[in-house]
Amino acid sequence: IPVQSFDLVLFGATGDLARRKILPSLFHRFQLGQFSDSSRIIGASRSDMDVDSFRERVAEAVREFGQQDEVNDKDIAAFVTLLDYVAIDAKGDRGWDELATHMRPDMVRAFYLSVAPSLFGDIATRLRSTGIATDDSRIVVEKPFGHDLASAQALNKALRANFEESQIYRIDHYLGKETVQNLMALRFANSLFEPLWNSSHIDHVQITVAESIGVEGRGEYYDRSGAMRDMVQNHLMQLLCLTAMEPPGNFTPDAVRNEKVKVIEALEPVENSDIARGQYRGHDGQASYRDHAGDPDSQTESFIAMKVQVANWRWAGTPFYLRTGKCLRERASEIAVFFRDPPHNIFQGSDPAKGNVLVIRLQPDEGITLHTTIKDPGPGGMRLTQAALDMTFADSLPHDERPQDAYERLIMDVIRGNQTLFMRGDEVEAAWAWADPIIAGWDGTRHAPLPYDIGSSGPEDSLRLLHRDERSWRSIGK
Ligand code: BG6
Repeated sequence: IPVQSFDLVLFGATGDLARRKILPSLFHRFQLGQFSDSSRIIGASRSDMDVDSFRERVAEAVREFGQQDEVNDKDIAAFVTLLDYVAIDAKGDRGWDELATHMRPDMVRAFYLSVAPSLFGDIATRLRSTGIATDDSRIVVEKPFGHDLASAQALNKALRANFEESQIYRIDHYLGKETVQNLMALRFANSLFEPLWNSSHIDHVQITVAESIGVEGRGEYYDRSGAMRDMVQNHLMQLLCLTAMEPPGNFTPDAVRNEKVKVIEALEPVENSDIARGQYRGHDGQASYRDHAGDPDSQTESFIAMKVQVANWRWAGTPFYLRTGKCLRERASEIAVFFRDPPHNIFQGSDPAKGNVLVIRLQPDEGITLHTTIKDPGPGGMRLTQAALDMTFADSLPHDERPQDAYERLIMDVIRGNQTLFMRGDEVEAAWAWADPIIAGWDGTRHAPLPYDIGSSGPEDSLRLLHRDERSWRSIGK
């Protein structure tokens, strides 16, 4: 179904995110017929460039980063006719008058700030003072949304001085992932799981976001952030919220976001003894984290594992173990829900059955697996074994639709005016309020990260967090 006609202004149009994600995503939604003919995308950045050069750059980006089996020259040629370009100074006067001439009445106006957060305030203020942004325009901002609570509050203040909260779309691209939304479908569109979804039946939860890539090329940004700021405060926090939240009354933005904020506010402070930090180390000529970071003494973590408690009626006594890291053995992300063991073993002579494990796989091979105990087939009496009820979405679904990139869905939601999959200001601040004291606890060399080998499962220390609770991590990947 086509969305309403729009003028989308993309600040940072020549940047990396625009090239890799935003523009190819727009192209694919254009291919699907979701854009009306009168919609326009106006690239804006500091570089002096004419519109033809910009169109050529976008065509190249789509060819390189689009879904290869769908990209074709005919569609690209049609797509680039929707593009305009304005050279603009975020902090100066250049380009704003020209941008104003591109804005048409009766169009949805969306301003996508794919730029450094230090420019959010300047751009928001200019958009308002020039009248380019109207009362129903939308403004989209990317992470990092702040470096700590104070900076996040300052960003919120700068945006809210010019836009209402209902106009602000803070992106966490994990919320656009298919399986992340499937988590909500699984919990709230099935009656099987929800009655068991609490500490009486769930022993613990493991949330893993493992990456095989390192921080090469992004060392400077990353070294100021580390895994806690780069992944836990936002992406893993969102996964935790969607797993732990109460059922919202409906699927409207504020009903969902209210429940997520309550989870964050219920998080207990985390002690250093409940955290394992690591830093990858190369061997046999491989570069180490510190080489990529450009700092031989860096104390920034490229891996973190932690035990988190949600202090509320539903979850008291059920820990959530989170872990994420770079240069691990595989790219594999999942939420694993460990149910309690059956209370009594009637099968004398067989080992007692283990609790069921429900695994929600985010990437790769998106799907859901329920590990169950069955009778071991064949002779030998009543012996038990484990087998999986396995649903890989790509195989189980009747249609052969390609997986959609998270950005496609999120950008279209901006045009539709649906904020459900975007973070509200208080949500981001609550997540920083939880993260700040944890990070402060490592200041300097306190609780320094321990080395782990590239291609491993992280530092040994992360095993300790579960072993002392008589549990163990699921292995990363296959
Ligand atoms: C980004 C982080 O937000 O998410 C990166 O800054 C990380 O460090 C990326 O690699 C992971 O996203 P995905 O979609 O590849 O899991």
